[in-house]
Amino acid sequence: MELIFEISKKGRRALEIPKPDVPGRSYRDNTEDATVNPLSGSIPSKYLRNTGLMLPEVSEPDLVRHYTALSDSNHGVDSGFYPLGSCTMKYNPKINEDMAALEGFTGVHPLQPEETVQGCLELMYKLEKSLSAITGMSRFTLQPAAGAHGEMTGLMIIKAYHDKTHPRRKIIVPDSAHGTNPASAAAAGFETVELKSSEDGGIDPDALRALMDENIAGLMLTNPNTLGLFEKNIREIADIVHDAGGLLYYDGANANAIMGISRPGDMGFDVLHLNLHKTFSTPHGGGGPGSGPVGVAARLEPFLPVPAVKYENGRYSFDYDLPDSIGKVRSFYGNYGVAVKAYTYIIRLGFEGLKQASVNAVLNARYLMQKLAGVYELPYKRSCMHEFVLSCTFMKKYGVSAMDVAKRLIDFGFHPPTVYFPLIVKEALMIEPTETESKETLDRFINAMLTIAEEAEKDPELLKNAPHTTPVTRPDDVAAARKPVLRYI
Ligand SMILES: Cc1ncc(COP(=O)(O)O)c(C=O)c1O
Repeated sequence: MELIFEISKKGRRALEIPKPDVPGRSYRDNTEDATVNPLSGSIPSKYLRNTGLMLPEVSEPDLVRHYTALSDSNHGVDSGFYPLGSCTMKYNPKINEDMAALEGFTGVHPLQPEETVQGCLELMYKLEKSLSAITGMSRFTLQPAAGAHGEMTGLMIIKAYHDKTHPRRKIIVPDSAHGTNPASAAAAGFETVELKSSEDGGIDPDALRALMDENIAGLMLTNPNTLGLFEKNIREIADIVHDAGGLLYYDGANANAIMGISRPGDMGFDVLHLNLHKTFSTPHGGGGPGSGPVGVAARLEPFLPVPAVKYENGRYSFDYDLPDSIGKVRSFYGNYGVAVKAYTYIIRLGFEGLKQASVNAVLNARYLMQKLAGVYELPYKRSCMHEFVLSCTFMKKYGVSAMDVAKRLIDFGFHPPTVYFPLIVKEALMIEPTETESKETLDRFINAMLTIAEEAEKDPELLKNAPHTTPVTRPDDVAAARKPVLRYI
Protein backbone atom coordinates (compact mmCIF):
# COMPACT_ATOMS: atom_id res chain seq x y z
CA MET A 1 0.00 0.00 0.00
CA GLU A 2 1.26 3.49 -0.84
CA LEU A 3 2.22 5.90 1.91
CA ILE A 4 0.12 9.02 2.18
CA PHE A 5 3.19 11.01 1.11
CA GLU A 6 3.35 8.98 -2.07
CA ILE A 7 -0.16 10.03 -3.12
CA SER A 8 0.50 13.65 -2.17
CA LYS A 9 0.19 16.25 -5.03
CA LYS A 10 1.27 19.81 -4.46
CA GLY A 11 -1.60 22.20 -3.85
CA ARG A 12 -4.27 19.56 -3.10
CA ARG A 13 -6.29 20.15 0.04
CA ALA A 14 -8.79 18.17 2.07
CA LEU A 15 -9.89 21.31 3.86
CA GLU A 16 -10.23 24.99 2.99
CA ILE A 17 -10.10 27.36 5.92
CA PRO A 18 -11.90 30.61 5.08
CA LYS A 19 -9.81 33.75 5.38
CA PRO A 20 -10.97 35.82 8.36
CA ASP A 21 -13.06 38.85 7.37
CA VAL A 22 -11.78 40.85 10.31
CA PRO A 23 -8.20 41.83 11.05
CA GLY A 24 -6.43 39.38 13.30
CA ARG A 25 -6.12 40.23 16.93
CA SER A 26 -3.23 39.52 19.15
CA TYR A 27 -4.31 37.04 21.79
CA ARG A 28 -1.92 38.65 24.26
CA ASP A 29 -3.32 42.16 24.63
CA ASN A 30 -6.27 41.95 22.28
CA THR A 31 -4.88 44.73 20.05
CA GLU A 32 -4.98 44.65 16.27
CA ASP A 33 -2.06 42.79 14.78
CA ALA A 34 -1.65 43.00 11.04
CA THR A 35 0.97 40.27 11.10
CA VAL A 36 -1.45 37.67 12.34
CA ASN A 37 -1.38 34.65 10.09
CA PRO A 38 -5.00 34.01 8.98
CA LEU A 39 -4.42 30.28 8.96
CA SER A 40 -3.31 30.15 12.53
CA GLY A 41 -6.21 31.94 14.17
CA SER A 42 -5.13 34.62 16.52
CA ILE A 43 -1.52 33.63 17.13
CA PRO A 44 0.75 36.53 16.16
CA SER A 45 3.33 35.55 13.59
CA LYS A 46 6.21 36.41 15.91
CA TYR A 47 5.11 33.46 18.03
CA LEU A 48 4.81 31.05 15.15
CA ARG A 49 7.67 28.67 14.47
CA ASN A 50 8.72 27.69 11.02
CA THR A 51 9.25 24.04 11.64
CA GLY A 52 9.73 23.14 8.00
CA LEU A 53 7.26 20.34 8.67
CA MET A 54 6.41 18.42 5.51
CA LEU A 55 2.73 17.61 5.30
CA PRO A 56 1.06 15.43 2.70
CA GLU A 57 -1.22 17.33 0.31
CA VAL A 58 -4.26 15.23 -0.57
CA SER A 59 -7.92 15.72 -1.41
CA GLU A 60 -10.62 14.72 1.06
CA PRO A 61 -11.70 11.54 -0.81
CA ASP A 62 -8.08 10.42 -1.15
CA LEU A 63 -7.52 11.07 2.52
CA VAL A 64 -10.62 9.16 3.61
CA ARG A 65 -9.92 6.25 1.25
CA HIS A 66 -6.33 5.97 2.39
CA TYR A 67 -7.18 5.68 6.08
CA THR A 68 -10.23 3.50 5.47
CA ALA A 69 -8.06 1.09 3.49
CA LEU A 70 -5.51 1.10 6.29
CA SER A 71 -8.10 0.38 8.96
CA ASP A 72 -9.59 -2.36 6.76
CA SER A 73 -6.20 -4.07 6.68
CA ASN A 74 -6.27 -4.37 10.45
CA HIS A 75 -8.19 -7.09 12.23
CA GLY A 76 -10.07 -5.76 15.24
CA VAL A 77 -12.76 -7.16 17.48
CA ASP A 78 -15.25 -4.93 15.66
CA SER A 79 -14.36 -6.62 12.38
CA GLY A 80 -14.25 -10.27 13.39
CA PHE A 81 -13.64 -13.07 15.88
CA TYR A 82 -10.54 -12.54 18.03
CA PRO A 83 -9.93 -15.62 20.20
CA LEU A 84 -6.66 -14.38 21.70
CA GLY A 85 -6.33 -16.55 24.81
CA SER A 86 -5.64 -14.74 28.08
CA CYS A 87 -6.31 -11.41 26.40
CA THR A 88 -10.13 -11.42 26.45
CA MET A 89 -10.80 -9.64 23.19
CA LYS A 90 -14.54 -9.44 23.52
CA TYR A 91 -16.96 -7.07 21.90
CA ASN A 92 -17.46 -4.06 24.15
CA PRO A 93 -20.77 -2.21 24.07
CA LYS A 94 -20.46 1.18 22.41
CA ILE A 95 -22.60 2.82 25.07
CA ASN A 96 -19.59 2.53 27.37
CA GLU A 97 -17.63 4.77 25.02
CA ASP A 98 -20.51 7.27 24.92
CA MET A 99 -20.57 7.45 28.71
CA ALA A 100 -16.80 7.88 28.96
CA ALA A 101 -17.03 10.70 26.41
CA LEU A 102 -19.57 12.72 28.44
CA GLU A 103 -18.29 16.22 28.96
CA GLY A 104 -18.82 15.98 32.70
CA PHE A 105 -16.07 13.36 32.74
CA THR A 106 -13.76 14.52 29.97
CA GLY A 107 -13.94 18.23 30.85
CA VAL A 108 -12.82 18.03 34.48
CA HIS A 109 -9.34 18.71 35.74
CA PRO A 110 -7.80 16.35 38.31
CA LEU A 111 -6.84 19.30 40.49
CA GLN A 112 -10.37 20.71 40.72
CA PRO A 113 -11.74 21.14 44.26
CA GLU A 114 -13.66 18.11 45.53
CA GLU A 115 -16.92 20.10 45.73
CA THR A 116 -16.90 20.58 41.96
CA VAL A 117 -16.31 16.90 41.05
CA GLN A 118 -18.77 15.12 43.33
CA GLY A 119 -20.19 13.11 40.42
CA CYS A 120 -16.75 11.86 39.41
CA LEU A 121 -15.95 10.86 42.98
CA GLU A 122 -19.32 9.16 43.32
CA LEU A 123 -18.53 7.02 40.27
CA MET A 124 -15.15 6.01 41.72
CA TYR A 125 -16.75 5.19 45.05
CA LYS A 126 -19.56 3.15 43.50
CA LEU A 127 -17.23 1.33 41.14
CA GLU A 128 -15.09 0.40 44.12
CA LYS A 129 -18.15 -0.89 46.00
CA SER A 130 -19.26 -2.90 42.95
CA LEU A 131 -15.83 -4.49 42.55
CA SER A 132 -15.84 -5.38 46.26
CA ALA A 133 -19.25 -7.03 45.91
CA ILE A 134 -18.12 -8.99 42.84
CA THR A 135 -14.81 -10.19 44.30
CA GLY A 136 -15.46 -10.35 48.05
CA MET A 137 -12.56 -8.00 48.80
CA SER A 138 -12.89 -5.31 51.43
CA ARG A 139 -11.53 -2.22 49.65
CA PHE A 140 -10.01 -1.24 46.30
CA THR A 141 -7.63 1.27 44.78
CA LEU A 142 -8.33 2.33 41.19
CA GLN A 143 -4.87 3.81 40.61
CA PRO A 144 -2.93 1.05 38.77
CA ALA A 145 -2.96 1.59 35.01
CA ALA A 146 -2.74 -2.05 33.88
CA GLY A 147 -2.84 -5.61 35.12
CA ALA A 148 0.92 -5.83 35.60
CA HIS A 149 0.87 -2.48 37.40
CA GLY A 150 -1.84 -3.87 39.68
CA GLU A 151 0.34 -6.90 40.37
CA MET A 152 3.24 -4.70 41.37
CA THR A 153 0.97 -2.59 43.58
CA GLY A 154 -0.49 -5.67 45.28
CA LEU A 155 2.98 -7.10 45.87
CA MET A 156 4.17 -3.81 47.34
CA ILE A 157 1.24 -4.03 49.75
CA ILE A 158 2.22 -7.60 50.68
CA LYS A 159 5.79 -6.48 51.23
CA ALA A 160 4.77 -3.51 53.39
CA TYR A 161 2.51 -5.79 55.43
CA HIS A 162 5.31 -8.24 56.22
CA ASP A 163 7.85 -5.46 56.78
CA LYS A 164 5.80 -4.28 59.77
CA THR A 165 6.48 -7.51 61.61
CA HIS A 166 8.99 -9.80 59.93
CA PRO A 167 10.27 -9.00 56.41
CA ARG A 168 9.78 -11.79 53.87
CA ARG A 169 11.38 -11.65 50.45
CA LYS A 170 10.21 -14.65 48.43
CA ILE A 171 7.06 -15.20 46.38
CA ILE A 172 5.88 -18.53 45.02
CA VAL A 173 4.69 -18.43 41.41
CA PRO A 174 3.38 -21.53 39.59
CA ASP A 175 5.08 -22.41 36.28
CA SER A 176 1.75 -21.91 34.48
CA ALA A 177 1.54 -18.26 35.61
CA HIS A 178 1.18 -15.33 33.26
CA GLY A 179 4.63 -13.92 32.47
CA THR A 180 3.85 -10.66 34.21
CA ASN A 181 3.57 -12.45 37.59
CA PRO A 182 7.26 -13.27 38.10
CA ALA A 183 8.23 -9.99 36.42
CA SER A 184 6.08 -7.94 38.81
CA ALA A 185 7.42 -9.90 41.78
CA ALA A 186 10.95 -9.03 40.72
CA ALA A 187 9.99 -5.38 40.16
CA ALA A 188 8.55 -5.25 43.67
CA GLY A 189 11.82 -6.58 45.11
CA PHE A 190 10.95 -10.24 45.61
CA GLU A 191 12.76 -13.37 44.62
CA THR A 192 10.43 -15.80 42.85
CA VAL A 193 10.23 -19.48 43.68
CA GLU A 194 8.73 -21.57 40.90
CA LEU A 195 6.08 -24.14 41.72
CA LYS A 196 5.75 -26.94 39.15
CA SER A 197 2.25 -27.79 37.97
CA SER A 198 0.91 -31.21 38.82
CA GLU A 199 -0.08 -33.84 36.24
CA ASP A 200 -3.56 -32.38 35.91
CA GLY A 201 -2.31 -28.82 35.35
CA GLY A 202 -3.14 -27.60 38.86
CA ILE A 203 -1.27 -27.09 42.11
CA ASP A 204 -0.16 -30.05 44.15
CA PRO A 205 -0.80 -29.09 47.81
CA ASP A 206 2.11 -31.24 49.01
CA ALA A 207 4.54 -29.58 46.60
CA LEU A 208 3.35 -26.20 47.85
CA ARG A 209 3.67 -27.24 51.49
CA ALA A 210 7.25 -28.28 50.86
CA LEU A 211 8.14 -24.79 49.61
CA MET A 212 6.65 -22.83 52.50
CA ASP A 213 9.01 -21.31 55.07
CA GLU A 214 9.28 -18.11 57.05
CA ASN A 215 10.80 -16.19 54.15
CA ILE A 216 7.84 -16.87 51.83
CA ALA A 217 5.74 -13.71 51.64
CA GLY A 218 2.97 -15.35 49.65
CA LEU A 219 1.67 -17.25 46.65
CA MET A 220 0.59 -15.60 43.41
CA LEU A 221 -2.17 -17.55 41.76
CA THR A 222 -4.28 -17.19 38.66
CA ASN A 223 -7.55 -19.02 39.12
CA PRO A 224 -8.66 -20.21 36.65
CA ASN A 225 -5.03 -20.58 35.64
CA THR A 226 -3.60 -19.89 32.21
CA LEU A 227 -4.59 -23.37 31.10
CA GLY A 228 -8.17 -22.29 31.77
CA LEU A 229 -8.40 -24.73 34.68
CA PHE A 230 -9.96 -24.00 38.06
CA GLU A 231 -7.85 -24.99 41.09
CA LYS A 232 -9.62 -27.92 42.69
CA ASN A 233 -7.87 -27.56 46.05
CA ILE A 234 -8.19 -23.84 46.48
CA ARG A 235 -9.29 -23.89 50.17
CA GLU A 236 -6.50 -26.27 51.11
CA ILE A 237 -3.99 -24.13 49.19
CA ALA A 238 -5.19 -21.02 51.05
CA ASP A 239 -4.82 -22.78 54.41
CA ILE A 240 -1.28 -23.97 53.62
CA VAL A 241 -0.15 -20.44 52.77
CA HIS A 242 -1.92 -18.75 55.68
CA ASP A 243 -0.78 -21.32 58.24
CA ALA A 244 2.80 -20.55 57.24
CA GLY A 245 2.21 -16.80 57.70
CA GLY A 246 2.05 -16.00 53.97
CA LEU A 247 -0.55 -14.07 51.97
CA LEU A 248 -2.47 -15.12 48.88
CA TYR A 249 -2.36 -12.99 45.76
CA TYR A 250 -5.06 -13.51 43.13
CA ASP A 251 -4.33 -12.59 39.52
CA GLY A 252 -7.88 -11.67 38.55
CA ALA A 253 -7.16 -10.62 34.99
CA ASN A 254 -9.50 -13.39 33.88
CA ALA A 255 -12.38 -12.71 36.23
CA ASN A 256 -14.79 -13.08 33.32
CA ALA A 257 -14.70 -16.80 34.11
CA ILE A 258 -16.10 -16.41 37.62
CA MET A 259 -18.09 -13.15 37.92
CA GLY A 260 -21.27 -13.71 39.88
CA ILE A 261 -20.34 -17.36 40.50
CA SER A 262 -17.41 -17.46 42.91
CA ARG A 263 -15.43 -14.78 44.74
CA PRO A 264 -11.67 -14.73 45.41
CA GLY A 265 -12.36 -13.15 48.82
CA ASP A 266 -14.41 -16.21 49.77
CA MET A 267 -11.65 -18.52 48.49
CA GLY A 268 -9.30 -16.93 51.03
CA PHE A 269 -7.34 -14.49 48.87
CA ASP A 270 -5.86 -11.42 50.57
CA VAL A 271 -4.93 -9.27 47.57
CA LEU A 272 -6.14 -9.26 44.00
CA HIS A 273 -6.02 -7.24 40.83
CA LEU A 274 -8.62 -7.10 38.09
CA ASN A 275 -8.10 -6.10 34.49
CA LEU A 276 -10.99 -3.70 33.89
CA HIS A 277 -9.79 -3.58 30.29
CA LYS A 278 -10.60 -7.25 29.82
CA THR A 279 -13.39 -8.37 32.10
CA PHE A 280 -15.31 -5.12 32.42
CA SER A 281 -15.12 -3.85 28.83
CA THR A 282 -12.57 -1.57 27.15
CA PRO A 283 -10.66 -3.45 24.48
CA HIS A 284 -7.43 -5.01 25.67
CA GLY A 285 -4.23 -4.50 23.76
CA GLY A 286 -2.72 -1.88 21.55
CA GLY A 287 -0.83 -0.39 24.47
CA GLY A 288 -3.75 0.79 26.54
CA PRO A 289 -5.33 2.60 28.19
CA GLY A 290 -5.96 -0.05 30.81
CA SER A 291 -6.84 -0.24 34.45
CA GLY A 292 -5.77 -2.79 37.05
CA PRO A 293 -7.59 -1.98 40.32
CA VAL A 294 -6.26 -3.76 43.39
CA GLY A 295 -8.57 -5.11 46.07
CA VAL A 296 -7.49 -6.16 49.55
CA ALA A 297 -8.85 -7.99 52.58
CA ALA A 298 -9.72 -5.82 55.59
CA ARG A 299 -6.40 -6.31 57.39
CA LEU A 300 -4.50 -4.88 54.39
CA GLU A 301 -6.63 -1.74 53.93
CA PRO A 302 -4.18 0.56 55.76
CA PHE A 303 -1.52 -0.25 53.15
CA LEU A 304 -3.51 0.82 50.08
CA PRO A 305 -2.23 3.68 47.91
CA VAL A 306 -3.58 7.14 48.70
CA PRO A 307 -5.95 8.73 48.09
CA ALA A 308 -8.94 6.42 48.33
CA VAL A 309 -12.47 7.85 48.00
CA LYS A 310 -14.82 7.99 50.98
CA TYR A 311 -18.44 9.01 51.52
CA GLU A 312 -19.47 10.79 54.71
CA ASN A 313 -22.38 13.06 55.59
CA GLY A 314 -23.71 13.09 52.05
CA ARG A 315 -20.37 14.14 50.55
CA TYR A 316 -17.62 12.33 48.65
CA SER A 317 -14.00 13.17 49.37
CA PHE A 318 -10.47 11.85 48.97
CA ASP A 319 -9.24 9.80 51.90
CA TYR A 320 -5.55 10.21 52.72
CA ASP A 321 -5.92 8.62 56.13
CA LEU A 322 -4.34 5.25 55.39
CA PRO A 323 -1.58 5.07 58.01
CA ASP A 324 0.62 2.42 56.36
CA SER A 325 -0.04 3.47 52.76
CA ILE A 326 2.54 2.45 50.18
CA GLY A 327 2.00 5.96 48.76
CA LYS A 328 0.94 6.79 45.25
CA VAL A 329 1.47 4.36 42.38
CA ARG A 330 0.24 6.64 39.63
CA SER A 331 -0.40 10.30 39.01
CA PHE A 332 -3.84 11.44 40.14
CA TYR A 333 -6.51 8.69 40.24
CA GLY A 334 -5.90 6.12 37.51
CA ASN A 335 -7.20 5.88 33.94
CA TYR A 336 -10.51 7.47 34.70
CA GLY A 337 -12.17 6.84 31.32
CA VAL A 338 -11.63 3.10 31.73
CA ALA A 339 -13.30 3.28 35.16
CA VAL A 340 -16.33 5.00 33.59
CA LYS A 341 -16.63 2.27 30.97
CA ALA A 342 -16.32 -0.48 33.58
CA TYR A 343 -18.97 1.10 35.79
CA THR A 344 -21.31 1.52 32.82
CA TYR A 345 -20.79 -2.14 31.94
CA ILE A 346 -21.48 -3.27 35.51
CA ILE A 347 -24.66 -1.27 36.06
CA ARG A 348 -26.03 -2.10 32.62
CA LEU A 349 -25.58 -5.83 33.09
CA GLY A 350 -26.41 -5.96 36.79
CA PHE A 351 -25.53 -8.92 38.98
CA GLU A 352 -27.50 -11.45 36.92
CA GLY A 353 -26.08 -10.07 33.67
CA LEU A 354 -22.50 -10.34 34.90
CA LYS A 355 -23.13 -13.91 35.98
CA GLN A 356 -24.63 -14.71 32.58
CA ALA A 357 -21.57 -13.21 30.88
CA SER A 358 -19.32 -15.62 32.79
CA VAL A 359 -21.62 -18.56 32.15
CA ASN A 360 -21.58 -17.78 28.42
CA ALA A 361 -17.79 -17.29 28.36
CA VAL A 362 -17.30 -20.72 29.92
CA LEU A 363 -19.96 -22.37 27.75
CA ASN A 364 -18.42 -20.99 24.56
CA ALA A 365 -14.95 -22.19 25.56
CA ARG A 366 -16.20 -25.66 26.48
CA TYR A 367 -18.10 -25.95 23.19
CA LEU A 368 -14.98 -25.11 21.16
CA MET A 369 -12.82 -27.39 23.28
CA GLN A 370 -15.17 -30.35 22.82
CA LYS A 371 -15.33 -29.85 19.05
CA LEU A 372 -11.58 -29.43 18.54
CA ALA A 373 -10.11 -31.79 21.12
CA GLY A 374 -10.59 -34.90 18.98
CA VAL A 375 -8.40 -33.51 16.20
CA TYR A 376 -5.98 -31.24 18.08
CA GLU A 377 -4.24 -32.53 21.20
CA LEU A 378 -5.67 -31.55 24.57
CA PRO A 379 -2.74 -31.80 27.01
CA TYR A 380 -4.82 -31.51 30.19
CA LYS A 381 -8.00 -33.52 29.91
CA ARG A 382 -10.18 -31.51 32.21
CA SER A 383 -13.18 -29.32 31.67
CA CYS A 384 -12.05 -25.76 31.00
CA MET A 385 -13.32 -22.41 32.21
CA HIS A 386 -13.23 -19.37 29.91
CA GLU A 387 -10.28 -20.56 27.81
CA PHE A 388 -8.35 -23.70 26.97
CA VAL A 389 -5.03 -24.76 25.51
CA LEU A 390 -4.50 -27.14 22.60
CA SER A 391 -1.22 -28.48 21.29
CA CYS A 392 -0.14 -28.83 17.65
CA THR A 393 2.76 -31.24 18.25
CA PHE A 394 1.03 -33.88 16.08
CA MET A 395 1.62 -31.61 13.05
CA LYS A 396 5.37 -31.60 13.57
CA LYS A 397 5.64 -34.69 11.39
CA TYR A 398 4.42 -32.60 8.45
CA GLY A 399 6.80 -29.77 9.37
CA VAL A 400 3.88 -27.61 10.49
CA SER A 401 3.95 -25.55 13.70
CA ALA A 402 1.41 -23.85 15.95
CA MET A 403 2.54 -20.56 14.39
CA ASP A 404 1.64 -21.85 10.91
CA VAL A 405 -1.86 -22.77 12.12
CA ALA A 406 -2.22 -19.33 13.67
CA LYS A 407 -1.12 -17.59 10.48
CA ARG A 408 -3.42 -19.72 8.30
CA LEU A 409 -6.42 -18.77 10.45
CA ILE A 410 -5.97 -15.19 9.20
CA ASP A 411 -6.86 -16.39 5.68
CA PHE A 412 -10.17 -17.64 7.08
CA GLY A 413 -10.88 -14.19 8.52
CA PHE A 414 -9.99 -14.97 12.15
CA HIS A 415 -7.46 -13.39 14.44
CA PRO A 416 -5.03 -16.11 15.62
CA PRO A 417 -5.23 -17.44 19.16
CA THR A 418 -2.32 -16.86 21.55
CA VAL A 419 0.57 -19.13 20.56
CA TYR A 420 3.39 -20.78 22.54
CA PHE A 421 1.85 -19.83 25.88
CA PRO A 422 1.64 -21.08 28.57
CA LEU A 423 5.21 -22.32 28.32
CA ILE A 424 4.42 -25.67 29.92
CA VAL A 425 2.53 -26.76 26.77
CA LYS A 426 4.55 -27.47 23.62
CA GLU A 427 3.25 -25.95 20.37
CA ALA A 428 0.46 -24.32 22.33
CA LEU A 429 -2.63 -22.65 20.93
CA MET A 430 -4.47 -20.83 23.69
CA ILE A 431 -8.05 -20.10 22.69
CA GLU A 432 -10.50 -17.76 24.40
CA PRO A 433 -13.76 -17.28 22.52
CA THR A 434 -15.31 -14.91 25.13
CA GLU A 435 -18.97 -14.55 25.99
CA THR A 436 -19.86 -12.24 23.15
CA GLU A 437 -19.60 -14.67 20.23
CA SER A 438 -22.55 -16.47 18.65
CA LYS A 439 -22.73 -20.21 17.94
CA GLU A 440 -22.56 -19.42 14.20
CA THR A 441 -19.21 -17.66 14.64
CA LEU A 442 -17.89 -20.48 16.82
CA ASP A 443 -18.98 -23.05 14.22
CA ARG A 444 -17.21 -21.13 11.45
CA PHE A 445 -14.07 -21.11 13.58
CA ILE A 446 -14.34 -24.85 14.28
CA ASN A 447 -14.67 -25.55 10.56
CA ALA A 448 -11.61 -23.43 9.81
CA MET A 449 -9.56 -25.23 12.47
CA LEU A 450 -10.61 -28.64 11.17
CA THR A 451 -9.87 -27.64 7.58
CA ILE A 452 -6.43 -26.42 8.64
CA ALA A 453 -5.73 -29.74 10.39
CA GLU A 454 -6.46 -31.51 7.07
CA GLU A 455 -4.33 -29.03 5.13
CA ALA A 456 -1.41 -29.70 7.47
CA GLU A 457 -1.28 -33.25 6.18
CA LYS A 458 -2.24 -32.66 2.54
CA ASP A 459 -0.53 -29.37 1.75
CA PRO A 460 1.88 -28.30 4.51
CA GLU A 461 3.44 -25.61 2.28
CA LEU A 462 0.10 -23.82 2.18
CA LEU A 463 0.30 -23.41 5.95
CA LYS A 464 3.98 -22.64 6.11
CA ASN A 465 3.56 -19.66 3.77
CA ALA A 466 0.29 -18.39 5.21
CA PRO A 467 -1.30 -15.93 5.37
CA HIS A 468 -2.01 -15.48 1.68
CA THR A 469 -4.72 -12.82 1.90
CA THR A 470 -3.01 -9.97 3.74
CA PRO A 471 -0.91 -7.06 2.39
CA VAL A 472 1.98 -8.24 4.59
CA THR A 473 2.52 -11.97 5.03
CA ARG A 474 5.13 -12.98 7.60
CA PRO A 475 6.87 -10.00 9.15
CA ASP A 476 9.87 -10.72 11.34
CA ASP A 477 8.02 -10.20 14.61
CA VAL A 478 11.12 -10.26 16.79
CA ALA A 479 12.85 -7.63 14.66
CA ALA A 480 9.64 -5.59 14.56
CA ALA A 481 9.55 -5.55 18.36
CA ARG A 482 13.26 -5.04 18.95
CA LYS A 483 14.19 -2.74 16.06
CA PRO A 484 11.01 -0.93 15.08
CA VAL A 485 11.24 1.31 12.04
CA LEU A 486 8.56 3.92 12.56
CA ARG A 487 7.39 6.06 9.69
CA TYR A 488 4.45 8.09 8.51
CA ILE A 489 1.69 6.18 6.85
C1 LIG B 1 -3.57 -13.73 33.60
C2 LIG B 1 -3.02 -12.37 33.30
N1 LIG B 1 -2.36 -11.70 34.25
C3 LIG B 1 -1.85 -10.47 34.03
C4 LIG B 1 -1.98 -9.84 32.81
C5 LIG B 1 -1.34 -8.50 32.61
O1 LIG B 1 -2.24 -7.48 32.30
P1 LIG B 1 -1.74 -6.18 31.51
O2 LIG B 1 -1.48 -6.62 30.10
O3 LIG B 1 -2.87 -5.21 31.60
O4 LIG B 1 -0.52 -5.66 32.19
C6 LIG B 1 -2.68 -10.50 31.79
C7 LIG B 1 -2.82 -9.86 30.47
O5 LIG B 1 -3.44 -10.25 29.56
C8 LIG B 1 -3.21 -11.80 32.03
O6 LIG B 1 -3.86 -12.48 31.10
